Amino acid sequence: MPPGQLSRRLAGVRYLKLMCAPLRCQRFHTVPRHYKGRTGAEHLWLMRHLKDPFVKAAKVESYRCRSAFKLLEMNKKHELLRPGLRVLDCGAAPGAWSQVAVQRVNAVGTDPSSPVGFVLGVDLLHILPMEGATFLCPADVTDPETLQRILEQLPGRRADVILSDMAPNATGIRALDHDRLISLCLTLLDMAADILSPGGTMLCKTWAGSQSQQLLKRLAKEFQHTRILKPEASRKESSEVYFLATQYRMRKSPVKP
Ligand SMILES: C[S@@+](CC[C@H](N)C(=O)[O-])C[C@H]1O[C@@H](n2cnc3c(N)ncnc32)[C@H](O)[C@@H]1O
Repeated sequence: MPPGQLSRRLAGVRYLKLMCAPLRCQRFHTVPRHYKGRTGAEHLWLMRHLKDPFVKAAKVESYRCRSAFKLLEMNKKHELLRPGLRVLDCGAAPGAWSQVAVQRVNAVGTDPSSPVGFVLGVDLLHILPMEGATFLCPADVTDPETLQRILEQLPGRRADVILSDMAPNATGIRALDHDRLISLCLTLLDMAADILSPGGTMLCKTWAGSQSQQLLKRLAKEFQHTRILKPEASRKESSEVYFLATQYRMRKSPVKP
């Protein structure tokens, strides 16, 4: 693609993201006046958002974002979260996955007969406080300083479950966005050696593409079981899939650069 065309395309994508950012991951059900002048693509996005049953359900059930239903479904099928577990939620803003984790690990101690778990969320963005969760924000998961802060917060300096719904800011160039997300997941997998307890679980979001096999291979080496999940709440037209890896067996040899 010629450089002029590429920069025009990127400027277009940036504009669209800027316009839609306040709407994403929010409980939003009416069309504000200032969106009246939107383009066709924005209009389509907004209409789909307003009709989305998971957006409506998130409002009814007081989840901060529709993505709660992705985790609820994956958790229902694969039992990732149970009372007493320590959870690290990477890319936690606005906090819907943390809400689900707080409930499932009994982080507030709502059920006195079950062990009390712990939820630590990390994000580049600010996250509103939540009972039962601790947030490190703004913080970049890939920053070595953040790793130290994570370890300081985790009881026993270990997590039993690492969740990652992280997504880098999309450029709209599919292959580039895919590479950036895979690289984020691989960095997190490197960090797992310091964070995740033996037998632990890692669930990470990816966008399907040419590097997915590389990540899957690494997960298969370091965990006993790996699966690819596409929950109902994940939009069919999205290339988003989740890799679930269970029974962490710790890294046997150093990661190749
Ligand atoms: C799809 S949202 C997560 C939604 C969240 N699971 C929820 O249910 O509320 C993706 C998040 O990943 C965060 N993110 C992307 N790269 C990150 C990084 N390097 N460190 C921390 N957070 C990151 C973004 O800021 C964004 O808030």
